Amino acid sequence: MKELFELATQTKGFMPHEEGMALYQAAIDASNYCAGPMVEIGAYCGKSTIYIGAACDQVNSVLFSVDHHRGSEENQSGWEHHDPELVNPLTGRMDTLPTWRETIESAKLEHCVIAIVGESITVARNWSTPLSFLFIDGGHGEDPAWSDYRNWTPHIALNGILAIHDVFENSKDGGRPPYEIYVDALKSGSYQEISTQGSLRILKKTSHTER
Ligand SMILES: C[S@@+](CC[C@H](N)C(=O)[O-])C[C@H]1O[C@@H](n2cnc3c(N)ncnc32)[C@H](O)[C@@H]1O
Repeated sequence: MKELFELATQTKGFMPHEEGMALYQAAIDASNYCAGPMVEIGAYCGKSTIYIGAACDQVNSVLFSVDHHRGSEENQSGWEHHDPELVNPLTGRMDTLPTWRETIESAKLEHCVIAIVGESITVARNWSTPLSFLFIDGGHGEDPAWSDYRNWTPHIALNGILAIHDVFENSKDGGRPPYEIYVDALKSGSYQEISTQGSLRILKKTSHTER
């Protein structure tokens, strides 16, 4: 397990180790609360995938990792979080899938981590299995964040976990949409906050009354 977490710290991405460990623990806890596979929205190069995948390996669950692998707005050329090494030289487009795949192979997690390559909303609308754990870390703009929240959270089983990344109360620290969906989840009365680590918020679904 130590080697796995070491690999996670060396993997490109946007998940500080302490938050990754909190994500791992929340996924372990989720498996004790209810049945069902796990889903992450926003895989990038596989950093968060390792933490959740490690939990799935331990508790004999499965993680479906959803990403179109074309990068978010802020990953595109000219933006703050652009990495030219992740551009396919043949097409000139962002493609994080080869790196993600190498990460999961190196982590020896291919037996319990499945890539779903495509638009999050399309996958959500065709999804029907109740989830024990949902991690939202896809597009952070208003439209993608609210779309992930509205289309995926109804799939969380009762007592299942909703984890949201990059929740910043102060707009000086980061974009608002992840914070806004977190606030809406709490206001809905369907979720109870169970832990916080950095910008990661862990909520438990306590009722199905979606608004
Ligand atoms: C912030 S990064 C994820 C970081 C990752 N969780 C980590 O630990 O490093 C967001 C990812 O969401 C993906 N993404 C953004 N919008 C998406 C959408 N509409 N459908 C699928 N994936 C999307 C991007 O391709 C990008 O890889």
